[in-house]
Amino acid sequence: MLGFFFVSGIIQPMIRFPSDFLWGAATSAHQVEGNNTGSDWWKWEQSGGGKEPSAAACGHYEKFRQDFDLVRSLGHTCHRLSVEWSRIQPAENEFSDQAIAHYKDVISSLRERHIEPVVTLHHFTNPQWFSDKGGWSHPDAVKLFCAYVDRVIDALAGNVTYWVTINEPLIYLFYSHIAGDWPPNKRSLIQAVAVRKNLIRSHIAAYRLIHAAYKKRSLAPPRVSIAHHMPAYVACTCTIRNRAAVWLRNRLVNYNILDILSRHKTLDYIGVNYYSRTLVDAESWSIPDLLFRSCCRNHETLAKNSMGWEVYPQGIYEVLMKLRKYRLPVFILENGICTGDDRLRWEYIRRHLLKVHEAIQCGIRVIGYTYWSLMDNFEWDKGFDPRFGLIGIDYRTGSRTIRESARNYSAVCATSQLE
Ligand code: BGC
Repeated sequence: MLGFFFVSGIIQPMIRFPSDFLWGAATSAHQVEGNNTGSDWWKWEQSGGGKEPSAAACGHYEKFRQDFDLVRSLGHTCHRLSVEWSRIQPAENEFSDQAIAHYKDVISSLRERHIEPVVTLHHFTNPQWFSDKGGWSHPDAVKLFCAYVDRVIDALAGNVTYWVTINEPLIYLFYSHIAGDWPPNKRSLIQAVAVRKNLIRSHIAAYRLIHAAYKKRSLAPPRVSIAHHMPAYVACTCTIRNRAAVWLRNRLVNYNILDILSRHKTLDYIGVNYYSRTLVDAESWSIPDLLFRSCCRNHETLAKNSMGWEVYPQGIYEVLMKLRKYRLPVFILENGICTGDDRLRWEYIRRHLLKVHEAIQCGIRVIGYTYWSLMDNFEWDKGFDPRFGLIGIDYRTGSRTIRESARNYSAVCATSQLE
């Protein structure tokens, strides 16, 4: 998988990814669609929550065809998106034929352009009615989520192979029920325990439901997973305490949920979201220090994204290598950088892909990569400032601009090769 090519008289090594590798970019409904009025995030934004409201966002709900033309022109072979629960089920006893027809159109539009859809069922937002009822801590949460999943599968089954049930369950849990920064803005460990249990049970139930529906329709088996946020934990200084904290965080954050889901045989692949490392710096043996304290001294000279996260490509290699024990294919569902410096974006992508390739060479079966994000979008409580997109958005006019990094990445998508 290592070749050579000739540039300005110099022979450069060239690396090759598997020929059936899926290349693309990712988005989520609330972050790009705009006017997601039935969701808990919308309500929270209207009451002043977060930096600014999502409003019309990128207008992708209306402009999806035009956006998929760009995706096609960039040579992507897959595209990750989420369907919005609050649009599909605007009230507990009401499903919207219009919203379902919309998402059918969305998926068909991708298929017409020969782009493999990767569909997420839950990406941080909930219908307001679900939230009013008690949300993810409600005893019926699993049942309620599965009723929605059932409708989505009924509509999209024949056209979708790759499913993601829940995006970053632990990140959602942390920000919405422990830190309290995201709706429903709870800070309750007791509720967090119930939410965690329900998120895990929902994945397991949805996994089984999707598989059963495909079997009933005699369709080829789907591939179902979660999108799991996996930081690389690195000890700031190599003390016993920091190493213990790294071990603990790896167990609790990175592996525990994968262990549970793989024990239940409900992962067809492992969906990984990787952005950066966490420099672990526990100043005492207290539980909060061991679990949460990270180094803020800024003593390393690594490049950073515009939100201060370090660029640490070695981390994606470390994370991938530790997944070997699960003996499952891995799909990198998010990896990206928000920056005003597009050269840094390409450098970020290139360096991470080199590390992904290194892991493949060491025997990890990585089947795809979706850069976060296809376009600039609504970065949750941080608003529109962080620019993650391969495509730039002018929020005043709605116009799209393909960035140079997108063109460089496009060459990789077209050839499965990287200089
Ligand atoms: C989330 C995205 C978010 C990205 C950058 C991921 O954790 O799935 O919705 O925009 O990180 O913060």
